[in-house]
Amino acid sequence: MTLILGIESSCDETAASLVTGDRRVLAHALAGQESAHRPVGGVVPEIAARAHVEILPGLIEQVLAEGQVSLDEVDAIAATAGPGLIGGVMVGLVTGKGIALASGKPLIAVNHLEGHALSPMLSEPGLTFPYLLLLVSGGHCQLILVRGLGYYRRLATTIDDAAGEAFDKTAKLLGLGFPGGPAVELAAKAGDPKAVKLPRPLVGSAEPHFSFAGLKSAVLRARDSGLHTREDIAASFQQAVVDCLVDRTTRALALAPEATALVVAGGVAANQTVRTSLTGLAKRHGLPFVAPPLWLCTDNAAMIGWAGALRFEAGLIDSLDTPPRARWPLDPDAEIVRGAGVKA
Ligand code: KG4
Ligand code: ZN
Repeated sequence: MTLILGIESSCDETAASLVTGDRRVLAHALAGQESAHRPVGGVVPEIAARAHVEILPGLIEQVLAEGQVSLDEVDAIAATAGPGLIGGVMVGLVTGKGIALASGKPLIAVNHLEGHALSPMLSEPGLTFPYLLLLVSGGHCQLILVRGLGYYRRLATTIDDAAGEAFDKTAKLLGLGFPGGPAVELAAKAGDPKAVKLPRPLVGSAEPHFSFAGLKSAVLRARDSGLHTREDIAASFQQAVVDCLVDRTTRALALAPEATALVVAGGVAANQTVRTSLTGLAKRHGLPFVAPPLWLCTDNAAMIGWAGALRFEAGLIDSLDTPPRARWPLDPDAEIVRGAGVKA
């Protein structure tokens, strides 16, 4: 049975895993860096990269010990090679290359987005291609039709901020703390989602793309007006994001009628209002709704190990001079969307 050591370090999560080709996660370890970034209220790339250097070797030792596996028994080393914060990607990829070189095992350079795209298969054995993935995190906001290993059609991306980024920026504007998503969700529970009139950018447009920058500016104006409580602004903001996600996903489903399921991944999938609204949307379309457990939705190394296992079994191994990539679109044919360079 294929056995892969997975490594993830593309943002502020350092992670390692041992995953098999028959969907078993033998071990996974993850260290977040929240406390390191909290004073600034956002992820600082240089701090993140240094933390990966310090933390990653210990996590790799930990998963090998937990899985009671020696490097000899591993078939390949799968490391995220992008897209992401370049310093962090370099740390994980170079570590993977070093282990591959020292152990004589092949390297698999995994696209982080491919990890997210395939991860629901780990928790949902019945999931079949093609499925529509809504990937909503701090760094990404995309709708991807997952057609098979290596076959991804990006139907939509954000033209400015990612949804999680909008939550984080709103939390900062309202003085709710970091990370922003859970803080906004908590404040929203005590607010009225109809209290503040906020825009729904791009809702109704033909292409299912996203935009959240205007919403953030509207939050700033609402705060400075002094007319609303933080709770009402948080609740109204959350409702506006949910309305955008639902409208844009509905549009994508119309463009991809072959989808067999609606799947959500990324940190924003932790949001209960988001989950409930997407459950309703899938039901209206007669589709199963799949939301993997949260640890698998947010950045982790099990998804990298799993993508690595599938790639290894398909004979897709990479050379040791594979470069780290800050940008690496999953769908090479996706049109370039104006303003979307950073998040594409
Ligand atoms: O997938 P993730 O852990 O990391 C990447 O960004 O790749 O996602 C983190 C993002 C952050 O922007 C965070 O604010 C958001 O997910 N998030 C949430 C919630 N929990 C995390 N957003 C809304 N509601 C939540 N409960
Ligand atoms: Zn991610």
